[in-house]
Amino acid sequence: MSNRFEGKVAIVTGAAGGIGLAAVERFAREGARVAAVDLADSALGRAVDTAKAAGGEAIAIAADVTHAADVEAYVAKTVEGLGGVDILFNNAGIEGLVCPLDEYPLEVFEKVMAVNVTGVFLGMKAVVPELRKRGGGSIVNTASVAGITGNALIPAYVASKHAVVGLSRSGAQTYAAEGIRVNAICPSPIDTRMMRSLEEGVSADDPEAAQELMKASIPAGRYGTPEEVAALVAFLCSDDAAFINGGVYTIDGAMTPG
Ligand SMILES: NC(=O)c1ccc[n+]([C@@H]2O[C@H](COP(=O)([O-])OP(=O)(O)OC[C@H]3O[C@@H](n4cnc5c(N)ncnc54)[C@H](O)[C@@H]3O)[C@@H](O)[C@H]2O)c1
Repeated sequence: MSNRFEGKVAIVTGAAGGIGLAAVERFAREGARVAAVDLADSALGRAVDTAKAAGGEAIAIAADVTHAADVEAYVAKTVEGLGGVDILFNNAGIEGLVCPLDEYPLEVFEKVMAVNVTGVFLGMKAVVPELRKRGGGSIVNTASVAGITGNALIPAYVASKHAVVGLSRSGAQTYAAEGIRVNAICPSPIDTRMMRSLEEGVSADDPEAAQELMKASIPAGRYGTPEEVAALVAFLCSDDAAFINGGVYTIDGAMTPG
């Protein structure tokens, strides 16, 4: 394993979840010091331990990404604790409900937009001044295949992830001249808590059958793993991707080309 992030500091939001935790591990293993951000401190012990086991270091920061003050605080605490910021993996997200648009409760729609869109916006806004101080940096925003295709079952999630793609493209154009890169990733179903919840939402009676149906929509025949997503994120945040900016990267076992 290379040390692509030696001397770098990475913030990972949603660090207590499946993809976030894998990213903490990957960044730590490749030499970064990591600020692991999620809703509750209690859920972040595993991220800190995982970074340590990977031979690195992480600090835990409790924050709700929908609150501007919390977001400003997680960036400030990272600078205070780790000396600056080079990378933001803007990854916290929620799935909302499996429900057709005309029945979708407004309060759930607003909650999905708050976490998935406002949270990503606030993270970018707060971290850019710190990336500037380092002479550049990398932001990767977690969108989804739902950020580039429609889906009848999860309209709020689809809307929110399309917005994440828009924020990423706009950010890339705004900051490219300053050496700040912004890319979006679009995973297909990945084997985490979120898919268990969506499988339940599709068929509370038979979530396993729902899983089989979803797997059948992926030509690779399986869900992706959090580690596979973390590998893409690490590449996009590394100097290997120095000219990659404003990209929208599917990682989906050929789900979307069809
Ligand atoms: N699992 C998939 O199939 C899949 C596919 C495409 C995209 N994604 C996206 O990947 C990202 C990570 O999802 P995951 O699969 O690891 O799910 P997950 O539920 O395991 O992790 C999400 C994490 O985000 C945190 N979070 C939620 N709301 C928050 C808030 N307001 N403030 C701070 N943290 C908050 C949760 O506590 C959780 O730890 C999400 O943005 C999700 O939409 C997931």
